[in-house]
Amino acid sequence: MQLIDGKLVSKEVRKSIAEEVTKIIAKGERAPHLAAVLVGHDGGSETYVANKIKACEEVGFTSTLIRYEDNVTEEELLNKVIELNNNPEIDGFIVQLPLPKHISEEKVTETIDPRKDVDGFHPQNIGRLTLGSPTFVSATPQGMLELLKYYNIATNGKHCVVIGRSNIVGRPMSILLSQKREPGNCTVTVLHSRSENLKEICRQADIIVAAVGVPEFVTADMVKEGAVVLDVGTTRVPSNETKSGWRLKGDVKFDEVSPKCSFITPVPGGVGPMTITSLMINTLKAANKEIYK
Ligand code: GUN
Repeated sequence: MQLIDGKLVSKEVRKSIAEEVTKIIAKGERAPHLAAVLVGHDGGSETYVANKIKACEEVGFTSTLIRYEDNVTEEELLNKVIELNNNPEIDGFIVQLPLPKHISEEKVTETIDPRKDVDGFHPQNIGRLTLGSPTFVSATPQGMLELLKYYNIATNGKHCVVIGRSNIVGRPMSILLSQKREPGNCTVTVLHSRSENLKEICRQADIIVAAVGVPEFVTADMVKEGAVVLDVGTTRVPSNETKSGWRLKGDVKFDEVSPKCSFITPVPGGVGPMTITSLMINTLKAANKEIYK
């Protein structure tokens, strides 16, 4: 069994982004610039956004954090999105989700200029992903593809079972893995809360992507000997052993599943570290106008 070290891959990718930024600046151009909009004080969102800003510093990007209280109106937020769309100094931006109930996430996402949508959440970018056209791929699926590439994990002709059909992880990952390219060319099965014979189908998988959001959902009896397991789960569970009072738990029962795997991602330190790095990849692409010329 080999552990997939997301921290290591993330560090290497960030180093190469930083080198690219150095070259951009040496040419007399400005550094890529990412803006993040954060509404309210949700603990998870605060941490994610703080880590995104920290990653920008690490690779040499400029970053701007725009904060609103929970009672911001939808109109105010949409006006900020339009302002960011029109600001030539900003290459890409994200609006951290979830948003308060009185604000339509759909409306906000659709208002973001697809050329600056470094989260890859805009319907136009998801449409392009579906068609196999150049696009901003959302962070978690892109991170997993980077990990598969780094460890030379063969996907061609393999049966990949994706558990979970969310718009930002399960569904895009299932589309990417079925595409006619490497990594890709998989036979893909998407399993979800209504799936019958879930365990039997998982047992047929060469590659399992666990993106259900249920801690330790995938148990040893669901995994074939030699399978590759990518664990997207990051549920916070109470813990006496940490200062914060919680720790992250994956969707895979790691201790019993890992001995059966050829490769597996741990939680933390597997898929997680790559997600923010993928956002840096997308921001660099936005600044270089690689997707939309
Ligand atoms: N909330 C949870 N994950 C994400 C993400 O990748 N981007 C944004 N904007 N919000 C999120």
